[in-house]
Amino acid sequence: MENFSMVNPVKIIFGEGMIKEVANEIPKGSKVLITYGGGSIKKNGVYDQVVKAIDGFEWYEFSGIEPNPHYETCMKAVALIKEKSIDFLLAVGGGSVLDATKFIAAAACFEDGDPWLILSKHAEVKKALPFGDVITLPATGSEMNSGAVITKAETQEKLAFGSPFTFPKFSVLDPTTTYSMPPRQIGNGVVDAFVHVMEQYLTYNEGDSLLQDNMAEAIVKTLVADGPKALKTPENYGVRANLMWASTWALNGWIAAGVPEDWATHMIGHELTAFYGLDHGQTLAIVLPGVMTVLKEQKSKKITRLGREVFGINDNDATNRTIKAVENFFESVGVKTHLSDYGLGDEAIEKVVSRLSQRGWKLGECENITADVVREILTLRK
Ligand code: NZQ
Ligand code: ZN
Repeated sequence: MENFSMVNPVKIIFGEGMIKEVANEIPKGSKVLITYGGGSIKKNGVYDQVVKAIDGFEWYEFSGIEPNPHYETCMKAVALIKEKSIDFLLAVGGGSVLDATKFIAAAACFEDGDPWLILSKHAEVKKALPFGDVITLPATGSEMNSGAVITKAETQEKLAFGSPFTFPKFSVLDPTTTYSMPPRQIGNGVVDAFVHVMEQYLTYNEGDSLLQDNMAEAIVKTLVADGPKALKTPENYGVRANLMWASTWALNGWIAAGVPEDWATHMIGHELTAFYGLDHGQTLAIVLPGVMTVLKEQKSKKITRLGREVFGINDNDATNRTIKAVENFFESVGVKTHLSDYGLGDEAIEKVVSRLSQRGWKLGECENITADVVREILTLRK
């Protein structure tokens, strides 16, 4: 196991009916800005619960945060914060609303130029406004990590940042808020959480981080067992609770402690979203089987372990069968796994390869996924 230090300060408030607890978590006298997306929270009753909970606070709202949130939209919220002297943010929605709110919180306090520098040049975040959230879509783990991914629409760039100041103060996880998710988002969420685990598990190491490996497999087994059930029985509380908690665990830092991490699937996927607008989960379902195939030798011990522990595969062709099992699982939750399923082909591959080549990034846990290797990965996924 590698050396590590870690901290996760997020207070989790879990369960049906817990949205009212936000009133006890936001410091008294705060001027609150509720941030949300395109209106799903108004249709499923979450907005009403939140508004009731913050009765007594001076509050404002900022809506219209899009999936794969835009820097341009976030900066409008920053202007509102300055105009109204807001001092606490409450994000209500999916990962996009949470990520946008993290960036807004940092950008509102950024004094070293254009806040886009936080993403483009890793400019240091020295402070951020405090914020909490009510998460309504289990997938990203954003509710219990300090990371965020923001898109600059003008230049079609989708980039990530993280800082010790952008952990939520608290996150409310009420599984009943997820009953209203469309099937497409259920599938996307399951794939995203699954791939988060893979980015931290499916590397060259095997056997010397047993606790992390066992924890990673427990998360994935939960997703494999209950992902398809959420599609069949959307209002099954137990299933939704399991998916919500598993998604949080998939990216809250614990299974990353002391192990190498990959993240190539995410980095390649971000480009497909930036250029073509595919959902985050869709891009991962395309790319991961390609990464597993091309990096098969480097990752072989972990791929066979995944096959054995999660999919019950135990034979001579375990590596290939496990890769196929992963692809089949993504398809089973309704997420298509080939570029052609989304009308993309060679042109898209070259666009992504050329972008990554310009950046000079070498991806993966061994930093051996060059632009040419990305071409090989995506060509397999046509
Ligand atoms: O905008 P509204 O109307 O709220 O609708 C949303 C949106 O259209 C809808 N939705 C959310 N909760 C719902 C619901 N509809 C009905 N009922 C509910 N309960 O779902 C749509 C997608 O929402 P979005 O927030 O975009 O999805 P998700 O949570 O998958 O977030 C994806 C974003 O998170 C980033 C992705 O790159 C992408 O931008 N990620 C963030 C990470 C992090 N912070 O650690 C890690 C991830 O790898 C990921 O990159
Ligand atoms: Zn992800």
